[in-house]
Amino acid sequence: MKKISIIIISALSVFFVVMASDYIKSRSGNDACIECHDAETPGIVKQYRSSSHSKNEVACYSCHEAEKSDPSGFEHNGFRVTAVVTPKHCGKCHSKEVQEFKDSLHDESGFFSLSAYGVREVEKRYKNTTLGRTANYKTNFSRESAEAGCLDCHGTVIKVGKNGKLINWPNVGMGRFNPDGSVGSCSTCHTRHRFSLEQARKPETCGQCHLGPDHPQREIYEESKHGNLFASDGENWKWDTPAGKWGPKDIDAPTCAACHMSGFGGAVKTTHNVSARLKWELEPMFSWTTDKEYLSGKKKFPIKRSIAARYEKIHGLRKGAIKSVKTGLPNPFAIAKKYAPEVYKAYVGPGKWWSRGKTRLDALGGEALRSSKEKREDMLKVCTQCHSRSWAEGDLDKADALIDVYNAVVLAIKLKYYDPIKREKLDKDIMFNGKSQVDNLWHEIWHHEGRIWRMGAFMQGQDWQHWEGSYEVADDGSHMADMLEKLRVRKAVKRKLRIR
Ligand code: HEC
Ligand code: HEC
Ligand code: HEC
Ligand code: HEC
Ligand code: HEC
Ligand code: HEC
Ligand code: HEC
Ligand code: HEC
Repeated sequence: MKKISIIIISALSVFFVVMASDYIKSRSGNDACIECHDAETPGIVKQYRSSSHSKNEVACYSCHEAEKSDPSGFEHNGFRVTAVVTPKHCGKCHSKEVQEFKDSLHDESGFFSLSAYGVREVEKRYKNTTLGRTANYKTNFSRESAEAGCLDCHGTVIKVGKNGKLINWPNVGMGRFNPDGSVGSCSTCHTRHRFSLEQARKPETCGQCHLGPDHPQREIYEESKHGNLFASDGENWKWDTPAGKWGPKDIDAPTCAACHMSGFGGAVKTTHNVSARLKWELEPMFSWTTDKEYLSGKKKFPIKRSIAARYEKIHGLRKGAIKSVKTGLPNPFAIAKKYAPEVYKAYVGPGKWWSRGKTRLDALGGEALRSSKEKREDMLKVCTQCHSRSWAEGDLDKADALIDVYNAVVLAIKLKYYDPIKREKLDKDIMFNGKSQVDNLWHEIWHHEGRIWRMGAFMQGQDWQHWEGSYEVADDGSHMADMLEKLRVRKAVKRKLRIR
């Protein structure tokens, strides 16, 4: 009996000593960090002090401690710290959010822009950026330009140089490749060091990346009634209610975060998986529902016969020419393998951040793997906190109905005009940056106007849906027809006049 209590007492005292020394270390460490940084970088300490982390005694070192295996760590006044704070660090306390983020397509953002990164052959080092030779090497979409554009939104590869200096730094892109083997950046929506809920819930935060001609969700939202209500009254709404509770009692109209992430008063599960409520893929060349067979690219997505027949007739295409569209593209993993195989190898494989990486389907996890119907149901649960089911469903049905029209019209333009120009090599003498005006026009049709047409409809932006979307696609379709005609005539004239 005596022996047992001695064992217990000594075990407990070891436990308490360990606990206490850890506690003292973190507290005194924190005090040291704060004391010195209050003088060196007072802006950081001020923001930290107003954060809920400070109130909950989350120390500087809890986030900045570098694992032994992390090459970005360095000795700093008696502590091994890193400047690159990654989802691995946040995940020590917020594992749920990190897993959901990982299960969403946000986490793959970096793969999608590797075509602009692609260090196949390191050319030279310009200050703290590695420059590579890619297909874009000799164009103005070069790596130099991508570092300040694509890669600042999507994320780049952070490397550690010989002297410990961070290369391609700073970068706060969504799918940043971190030196500790993790991917992503939580401060894209929660800037350090306030880590505020209010900021993440406001549309301007998402709008930092979701704007412009190829994905103007911010502008569409501004046009919508919801955005209008936010602009006129948002300052009186309540923004800091804890997640799960924040809902229709706090705000009158939804923001991006309310529809795509928030639990919204308990109607659905709060999620960091922005793919979890999407029925459609609206950004690829053609749209298809987010069901497994299409995400993996296994099956083509059908176009309703009556709609296909309508556009075959209008454009003089043979019966059955418009039938279905390709799915599963763009495939983030295939992009990586092609443009930056060393990045693929470093982050995909057993024990790596992604254990598997073959098709677009492998990019998703958790609730994003449900059927498209279930995902739509979650979106509707948000709407019906403020609208009747028939109102909300009626509005989304309208948008659903135009997808087949979009697919059919854009496929018709491709089959009738774009494909023949490329097949007959009619534009080979008019290239700039490796692309012709025909290529650029085709890109604008699906990548800009086509996305606007589709997204405008789903997010209540009528002007975007029609005048910036559907109308522009038709206008550019007619330009494409004009180009085919003129390029064929030009080819014939040149042959006649024996111009090379
Ligand atoms: C004695 C002063 C002092 C102490 C103590 C101190 N720092 Fe620093 N820290 C600095 C200075 C000075 C810099 C450099 C600022 C600059 O480059 O302008 C710095 C830079 C940093 C950086 C940025 C490094 C980079 O490459 O961008 C981080 C992160 C950091 N400190 C975290 C911490 C943490 C966490 C602690 C406590 C564990 C801490 N510091 C303790 C003075 C201090
Ligand atoms: C909740 C986690 C967290 C805590 C707590 C935290 N930081 Fe940070 N810190 C970050 C993140 C995230 C970044 C941005 C770096 C990145 O993108 O990876 C950062 C960046 C920095 C930088 C470099 C930024 C720059 O502009 O040069 C310094 C210096 C720094 N932190 C110091 C501190 C100090 C001092 C404290 C305590 C007062 C502290 N941090 C507390 C997460 C944290
Ligand atoms: C050592 C544990 C710890 C680490 C590491 C940590 N947090 Fe926290 N975080 C907390 C605690 C504790 C709270 C407050 C209680 C709560 O809301 O759960 C909190 C709250 C938050 C909140 C809600 C803020 C609010 O106003 O309610 C956000 C957002 C957040 N953390 C983001 C992050 C991010 C991003 C990182 C990594 C850069 C991070 N945290 C790292 C412990 C941590
Ligand atoms: C302003 C920030 C920003 C810049 C700059 C940017 N992108 Fe994007 N990109 C986005 C956003 C936001 C989306 C999501 C579009 C959507 O879902 O509507 C996206 C989508 C994509 C997609 C499609 C992803 C998918 O899921 O199908 C690819 C591929 C892509 N971008 C590549 C690039 C490349 C390459 C560059 C530079 C030449 C670039 N982006 C520049 C923000 C940006
Ligand atoms: C730092 C840039 C950035 C910010 C900030 C950002 N996003 Fe994104 N988002 C992207 C990029 C890049 C993509 C496209 C690439 C991808 O999906 O992998 C994307 C894709 C998406 C998608 C499509 C996912 C899918 O499965 O097709 C949704 C929905 C989305 N974001 C919602 C949001 C919301 C809501 C916010 C704000 C709370 C937000 N994003 C903030 C960059 C950003
Ligand atoms: C696309 C923007 C976006 C990104 C990226 C993001 N968050 Fe959030 N986060 C939000 C929003 C919006 C909320 C508030 C949800 C709500 O309305 O209830 C939130 C809430 C939180 C909370 C509070 C949750 C709670 O239950 O109190 C934590 C903790 C958090 N985020 C951590 C993280 C971590 C860790 C990461 C990185 C893996 C991250 N966030 C990345 C937008 C984002
Ligand atoms: C009223 C709710 C609502 C609001 C507010 C809202 N969205 Fe959406 N969003 C939707 C719906 C519904 C869809 C279509 C979903 C589907 O696939 O069925 C959508 C689609 C998207 C997509 C396309 C995903 C894909 O397939 O590529 C992105 C990206 C996006 N929203 C981002 C945003 C951003 C950023 C904001 C704020 C500026 C925002 N949304 C505001 C409801 C909303
Ligand atoms: C937080 C409450 C709230 C949520 C959630 C919400 N709405 Fe709304 N919505 C409103 C309010 C308020 C109006 C303005 C009603 C009016 O015009 O009197 C509105 C207006 C609309 C309109 C009319 C647009 C116009 O131009 O007049 C449509 C359509 C709509 N919402 C659809 C949706 C859909 C679809 C969803 C879910 C994806 C949704 N709403 C989610 C509050 C909400």
